[in-house]
Amino acid sequence: MNALECDDVAVHFGGVRAVDGVSLTVRPGSLCGLVGPNGSGKTTLLNAVSGLAPTTRGRITAGGEVVSGRGVPWIARSGIRRTFQAIRLVPELSVLHNVMLGADDGSRLLDGLLRPWRAARADRESRERAREALTRVGLAGVENLRPDELPYGHQRRAEIARALAARPRLLLLDEPVAGMSPAERAEIGELLTGLRDDGMTQLLVEHDLELVTRITDHLVVVDFGRVIADGDPATAVLDERVREAYLGRTTARRERPAAGHGPGGALRAGEGG
Ligand SMILES: Nc1ncnc2c1ncn2[C@@H]1O[C@H](COP(=O)(O)OP(=O)(O)O)[C@@H](O)[C@H]1O
Ligand SMILES: [Mg+2]
Repeated sequence: MNALECDDVAVHFGGVRAVDGVSLTVRPGSLCGLVGPNGSGKTTLLNAVSGLAPTTRGRITAGGEVVSGRGVPWIARSGIRRTFQAIRLVPELSVLHNVMLGADDGSRLLDGLLRPWRAARADRESRERAREALTRVGLAGVENLRPDELPYGHQRRAEIARALAARPRLLLLDEPVAGMSPAERAEIGELLTGLRDDGMTQLLVEHDLELVTRITDHLVVVDFGRVIADGDPATAVLDERVREAYLGRTTARRERPAAGHGPGGALRAGEGG
């Protein structure tokens, strides 16, 4: 059974076909990369998987359970967690409390409110999970600081810890190394491969082809909301369409093709290959 399966998934916003028929598979225990130029639909696909964007078409399953059509709370409870492209830590809370927020899927919090005598235990459990996650990302010593007291790269780590605190079965990462120095990027790369070695299934959205080809087991490349290459990372990046998508975008943002024709149509042939 696959950890994640997208079958012809589309997410349209009015006339904008942000995701336009993506099929991909993430195998259990693998670190799968999802790359593509800016605006190619990567974040929108993660939003669809995590329930933030309703699918226009297609089906998403995780571990055999249908995820598409479900709400965010259900999906979170089912063990799918994510990080966001922009850091979303609560500035007023300590690093520990930020990560504790991730440990709770709402049900324990609710349980604590309805049955106050259980609140202490729920809190203890969340604290334990949060500490475990902070240790895993290398932030054990800074749990009492506020996020803005951490260097940027460590804020990113705290964001990953918050997702890990839920002990997810599938971790979705949206550009976790954005804005980092090459050294910090390499460290996060090691963290992610370490998590993979521990059995954590991950779908990593990244803009940086070099990092992704180095650390992922499998690579899916999207452009204009469609898959243009899928397979072994080193082979996928050499694909003619991938090179064209990346190089063509460095000079000027290419026009998004109109629905049903244009380059997007021609690229469909490469899907699932
Ligand atoms: N909520 C939205 N409403 C309208 N258009 C959107 C929305 N979210 C994303 N888009 C558009 O969908 C396309 C894909 O965006 P996105 O998924 O953020 O790309 P990526 O993460 O690959 O850079 C872009 O053209 C973007 O402007
Ligand atoms: Mg994005």
